[in-house]
Amino acid sequence: MQSKKILVTCALPYANGPIHLGHMLEHIQADIWVRYRRMCGDEIYFISADDAHGTPIMLKAKASNIQPERMINKIFTQHIKDLKNFYISYDNYHTTHSQENYFFSKLIFNRLKKNKLIKKKIVDQLYDKKYNIFLPDRLVQGTCPFCYSIKQNGDHCNNCGRNYESIALIKPISILSGTIPIIRKSEHYFFILNKLFNILKTWIMSGVLEDIVINKVLEWFNASLKSWDITRDKPYFGFNIPNTTDKYFYVWLDAPIGYISTFYNFCSKNKKLCFYEWWKTNSITELYHFIGKDIIYFHSLFWPAILEGSYFRKPTKLFIHGHVTLNGYKMSKSQGTFITAKKWLQYINADSLRYYYATKISNNIDDIDLNLNDIAYKVNSDIVNKIVNIASRTSYFINNYFYNTISKYIDMKIYLQFVNSSQIIHTYFIQRQFSHVIQEILCLADIANKYIDTHKPWITIKKNQHLTHNICSLAINMFRIIMIYIKPIMPDLSKKTEIFLNTILSFKDIHIPLLNHQINKFVVLFERIDENQIKNIISK
Ligand code: MSP
Ligand code: ZN
Repeated sequence: MQSKKILVTCALPYANGPIHLGHMLEHIQADIWVRYRRMCGDEIYFISADDAHGTPIMLKAKASNIQPERMINKIFTQHIKDLKNFYISYDNYHTTHSQENYFFSKLIFNRLKKNKLIKKKIVDQLYDKKYNIFLPDRLVQGTCPFCYSIKQNGDHCNNCGRNYESIALIKPISILSGTIPIIRKSEHYFFILNKLFNILKTWIMSGVLEDIVINKVLEWFNASLKSWDITRDKPYFGFNIPNTTDKYFYVWLDAPIGYISTFYNFCSKNKKLCFYEWWKTNSITELYHFIGKDIIYFHSLFWPAILEGSYFRKPTKLFIHGHVTLNGYKMSKSQGTFITAKKWLQYINADSLRYYYATKISNNIDDIDLNLNDIAYKVNSDIVNKIVNIASRTSYFINNYFYNTISKYIDMKIYLQFVNSSQIIHTYFIQRQFSHVIQEILCLADIANKYIDTHKPWITIKKNQHLTHNICSLAINMFRIIMIYIKPIMPDLSKKTEIFLNTILSFKDIHIPLLNHQINKFVVLFERIDENQIKNIISK
């Protein structure tokens, strides 16, 4: 099969808090896919960055009494550490608060302007006089202008479900100061999305989205597309709009541009890569964005519009996932059900979470429940009792009776049955149906364990050493194939297995069994999870 050129991104985590297990679902899902394709020989690059701008970041820094730059730097360091500890194999992880990102944001803004896609308009906005700040929607509450239900959000009523402008709210209150905001005028830039209506609609229908989300996105089109306000007034932490002193690009303008600038930054460190080959309008390379369902709007409307209007290529496909819930509930900071990546790693290894998520990941947008009791059960019974057990039951004989050496002969019929599973497993990996990959792997593990149960090397060793050698050698070879299949999912277990088997696990030579091959002494490859570890994770 011809190898491909692929660029993969994860949505850029906000630099106002730690990486949590919700974020990790996305990074793990993308990383498994990327690792698999890398193993297949594709030229694939995997990037992401911190999304470092916006009002929440500015306010959080203010509340902590530090400069926003200092805060985002500190968070950046922790984010990188967390991602690395979960073996997320980024080729580059950058930040949107970078020179490159400012360069591309200005370039794109100027191109949009030149293409007459930007207009200026004076808008009325709610202004908090105590904090001297224009209030973003999420910092205002009030009575719904349609159903008169009180304490509704700045842009949406939870009672009647309607959306509105925050200035339409009756009796608005600033969440920041508790005061009544005034209305103040300000000149803003708007992106006239409707001018790209047909192009965007064609793009959406062209197979870039899974069928389940197309209808939802098409609903947003309805009759026309509203122009998009891309300006925020000072004080704001972001990029200054050229030729203004008090206006900034809205964070959602420069955030996705972070995909471009992060890749540009990567190219500047890797001279063999040609930036424009990947980002020019007619690029034949592929671009995939892994995102959560909460940010479909930005990626299926605003982002392709930005790219179309500024002569950059559009994504090949959006890979959208659902949200992680914890024991059936939304993760919440206040209820202490919010688990950070760092906290997880204090008690449980990274591969366990990677494996557990993989058992639940498919190419749909269903939410994924992290059931803490289920995790221990699944990991212990699948990884320890089924998979690693194949090696621990049989390596004893290879280590102690046969000088650590695998036999010169094994039953190739059974071996090839294991090899043949690679076709279906390939399809499942490519389609991001990792739960199916795991079902397939567990079937193979069952076959291997049954084989050992039937052939009973602990009995044959007393009478027929030669036969026992072949039985155990086939079992180790079955284990090796299973470990090749699971390698993109569990990089740490795979690394330990490579040391034990004294070989690199690769798809390329899956057809060739390990014969007359020296392995190492079996050591514990994977620790089981006990209940206390789980309890500690949810303790505050
Ligand atoms: N900064 C924006 C993305 C900009 S992309 C140009 C953002 N940041 S975020 O930190 O809130 O979320 C980053 C990604 O993590 C998003 O794709 C989001 O859907 C995902 N998740 C955040 N919480 C999540 C869960 N609880 N479950 C699954 N994914 C979640 O949005
Ligand atoms: Zn209402």
